[in-house]
Amino acid sequence: MSKQTYPNFRILNYNKINKKWKITTICEVIIIKMIYLDNAATSFPKAIDTMRIQEIIDRTPGSINRRGYSSDYNLSSILDESRRKIKTFIGSGFEDKLIFTFNATHAINMALRGILNKNDHVLTTRYEHSAISRTLYSLTHERNISYSLLNVNTNTSEEEFEELLLNLLSPNSKMIVMTYGSNVTGDIIYKSKFGEIAHKYGLIVFVDASQAVGNIEINVKRENIDIMAFSGHKSLMGLTGTGFLYFRNNMNLPLIFTGGTGIKSEDDFIIPTEELDYEVGTMNIPGILSINQSIHFLEQNFKEVITKKSMLTKEIIKRLKAIDGIHIYGNFEAENHLPIISFNAKNLHPVNEVAIILENVYNIVTRAGIHCAPWTHKMLGTFPQGTVRISPGYFNEMEDIYTLEKALKEISLIKQI
Ligand SMILES: Cc1ncc(COP(=O)(O)O)c(C=O)c1O
Repeated sequence: MSKQTYPNFRILNYNKINKKWKITTICEVIIIKMIYLDNAATSFPKAIDTMRIQEIIDRTPGSINRRGYSSDYNLSSILDESRRKIKTFIGSGFEDKLIFTFNATHAINMALRGILNKNDHVLTTRYEHSAISRTLYSLTHERNISYSLLNVNTNTSEEEFEELLLNLLSPNSKMIVMTYGSNVTGDIIYKSKFGEIAHKYGLIVFVDASQAVGNIEINVKRENIDIMAFSGHKSLMGLTGTGFLYFRNNMNLPLIFTGGTGIKSEDDFIIPTEELDYEVGTMNIPGILSINQSIHFLEQNFKEVITKKSMLTKEIIKRLKAIDGIHIYGNFEAENHLPIISFNAKNLHPVNEVAIILENVYNIVTRAGIHCAPWTHKMLGTFPQGTVRISPGYFNEMEDIYTLEKALKEISLIKQI
């Protein structure tokens, strides 16, 4: 039987390794509490009262801003309220734009496809998610844009950054696109000084903050960010199908998606001037309701949320470092680090062995592979097998970390038996 075959390989090997991992035991283990450590993909559980959302949906016919029913006004005011709250949360001015999207990828596409024209050049990094890298790649074919990769990391100083930028800058450079923090290593890459330097050379500063918003305090104004895309379903703890695109009021962002908005319906063509112009089609009403609740939760508890996640992250790192054969990637000793840790266990495949055993034997959910970030894994030397990624959330407890530690201690012994 091939080594990778599932599920027999798993069961046969467990039986050989340790009697307690027989099928009967696996069945017992499966009914224990699931430990969810994949909050970087999407948070779970959500900081929302789903009964309350259901109640609003049940009581409220119609769509947002269609003006057909008085209940429309109710939904529109919830949308406005959420928009205002998120703007405050990210330090945006009320005159700036914050568009509700269906996820960060949707927002990234709106921004890159809206702003980049034929022959434009972009500076970016090796930490980018496929939402950025694939879109840029597509635009090289569609519009002959080009991009260059800056060799930045968490240790890059302002002087080094400027030097790297100057080496790659060309007369057609229009924008710098940077992730705020890596979805693979948790390293924080963006610095407000980088934005300041990029502005000095006339570049638009576009930050992908999908992993950062809700995990650290961000202030778009102070941090020199012109455009920022982020998810609503990750650390903002809203439902899936939510994301945002922020951009400064002075930016001209053409429409990528066109269609009905409930306003200006008599015009075939509109020049977008307000947020609603970008929110075409029927919006994700349950998602918007969930964001309204989760942002309220974060407003009340943000300090506690980030302190707890940071504490859990530090505990995980401390315990992983102490296990023989475990290698952690990135600058995990940095003071500021997102609640994301990537590691490999010596001689074990991250996907086919470590993550599968964690999930099926210990009921611990992680995410293994290349995390839609092939450039990052190539840089780390972990391509194509990837790493195992652990991302704790606010609702994890120290108990979960003890179980993870115990599991990884046992798993790391496998190839030594
Ligand atoms: C850094 C980064 N950018 C973009 C995305 C895409 O987010 P979404 O799933 O909301 O489109 C992710 C998702 O994992 C991410 O980690």
